[in-house]
Amino acid sequence: MPPDSDPLACPWGWDELEATVAACTACPLHRGRTQTVFGVGNWRAEWMFIGEAPGEQEDLQGEPFVGRAGQLLNEMIRAIGLKREDAYIANVLKCRPPKNRDPAPEEAAACEAYLKAQLALVRPRIIIAVGRIAAQNLLKTATPIGKLRGQVHDYEHIPLVVTYHPAYLLRSLTEKRRAWEDLKLARRIFNQQHR
Ligand code: URA
Repeated sequence: MPPDSDPLACPWGWDELEATVAACTACPLHRGRTQTVFGVGNWRAEWMFIGEAPGEQEDLQGEPFVGRAGQLLNEMIRAIGLKREDAYIANVLKCRPPKNRDPAPEEAAACEAYLKAQLALVRPRIIIAVGRIAAQNLLKTATPIGKLRGQVHDYEHIPLVVTYHPAYLLRSLTEKRRAWEDLKLARRIFNQQHR
C-alpha cells in the first residue's frame, strides 16, 4: 500500500507527538488543565485501551486511569492475563473537561488526530473501547453502549471490542459480569488471530 493511502499513517514520531500534545491549544480545554495527559504503556503493545478523558487525579498526575476507575481498569487488564505495563492506555481527550463533564464533539474532533497518531504508532492487535464516549467516538456512531458491546467491531482493520467504563462499573456492580464477558470475548478474538 502506498504510504499516503494508509489510513493509520502517522506524521509524528513519539517525542514530536508528545511535545505537540503538551503544547496544544486547539480547544478551550487547554485553559483549565494542570497538564495534558498523553498516554502510557508499552509502545509495542498488542492491546490498547482507550478511555474518555482525564479526571482530577489524571490531570494532576499526568497519567491516564490513575484514580479509582484506574484501579478497576488495572483489574480488568489483569483479568485478561496482562499487566498494565504490557498494554498501551490513552484517552479520547488529552485534557480534563471541567467537572468531568462529557467531552463536547468539537473537543473530541480537536483531539482526534492525536489518538489516531497513537494508534498508528502502537499498531495494536486489538482495541478495547472503555466506555460509551470512547466507543462512540472511535466508531463514529451514536448507538448506545448496550448495543455496541458483545460484538467485534473494526477500526481500520483492527478488531475493537467495547466494554463498560470502570467508573460506571464502580456504581453499578451488577454490570460487572457483562464487562467480564466483554473481556473474555476480546481475549478469544485476540487468541484466534494468533493461532
Ligand atoms: N476516565 C477515563 O476515561 N480516563 C481516565 O484517564 C480516567 C478516568
